[in-house]
Amino acid sequence: MKILQKFPDKDFVILNLTDPQLSDAEWAEGQTPRRVLEYTVNELVARTKPDLITVTGDLAWAGNHHAYDCLADLLDGCGVPWSFVWGNHDQQNGQAEVERVVERYLQHPLCLYERGDAALGNGNFVLLIEQEGQAVQALLMMDSHDREAVIDQNGETQEAWARLTAPQLAWYRQQVAALRDRGCRDAALLLHIPPHAYRLASEAALKDQETRGEVTIAESMTAKPWNVGYEDSIGVQWEPICSYPSDDGVLATIKECGLTTHVLAGHDHRIATMISYEGIRWIYALKTGMGCYWTPALNGGTVLTVSENGLSDARYEYVDASSLL
Ligand SMILES: [Fe+2]
Repeated sequence: MKILQKFPDKDFVILNLTDPQLSDAEWAEGQTPRRVLEYTVNELVARTKPDLITVTGDLAWAGNHHAYDCLADLLDGCGVPWSFVWGNHDQQNGQAEVERVVERYLQHPLCLYERGDAALGNGNFVLLIEQEGQAVQALLMMDSHDREAVIDQNGETQEAWARLTAPQLAWYRQQVAALRDRGCRDAALLLHIPPHAYRLASEAALKDQETRGEVTIAESMTAKPWNVGYEDSIGVQWEPICSYPSDDGVLATIKECGLTTHVLAGHDHRIATMISYEGIRWIYALKTGMGCYWTPALNGGTVLTVSENGLSDARYEYVDASSLL
């Protein structure tokens, strides 16, 4: 467990980036994707003055080692500690490629990453924010893997987006129990692929799934697109949710254990919503840069503010990079 210090009378600011996902070629000097990503990150850091930067997966494309190194250098240049969870694209070329990146990333003093128990996947670990010895905010960093085979209603084998495994959920329970024993006040779960509960939250909160693509960012900040009881939702869903297709046990586990109030996921580049459902804030991180696919209007980062009792605010910071295109 890595521990970060929050100072009294000052909020601790976490700047989350997601899915930067550039290739070696896109990181070449002068390339537009590189310029957009560098501009976006530097703009976000200047605006939010973070104490920690997190990345919720798909850092680059597996095997593009120059791209991983360039991203680490960009994050180092922000001058604050940084950490991350792996995405499906980071892992799609197998374990050896992940391990090659890990070995280099662990040479970066500002990189807070732990391999965690290899039986659980890559990088299941806890970051803890303390104030004067008091555990304030835990960040449970978890590996949501890539894809897995599921049997559909017709008995056919289908490939689906992966989920947290049963041993990972057991690990989660142990971590939350230990954090409770320590008197920790709040926890958030960070992972790449959204758990199935994101679908349930969207279905409960959005008035009309058919027209969700027509809701503007400005409208999404009003009560108009949201059902009664979900008016504190914000953000737009301009594509379908890519999660494990059925119940994955995450919602029940979080509710059973308590402590966790927020979940932050990446993966779907055209969704940036925050919905409170079953007492938990389900947040889609705002996409950072144009890697893989993007919508220029949904570019930027997600800002999590930690006060002395834990996570007190989550908001999007949009960055207009259209002048670079
Ligand atoms: Fe992804």
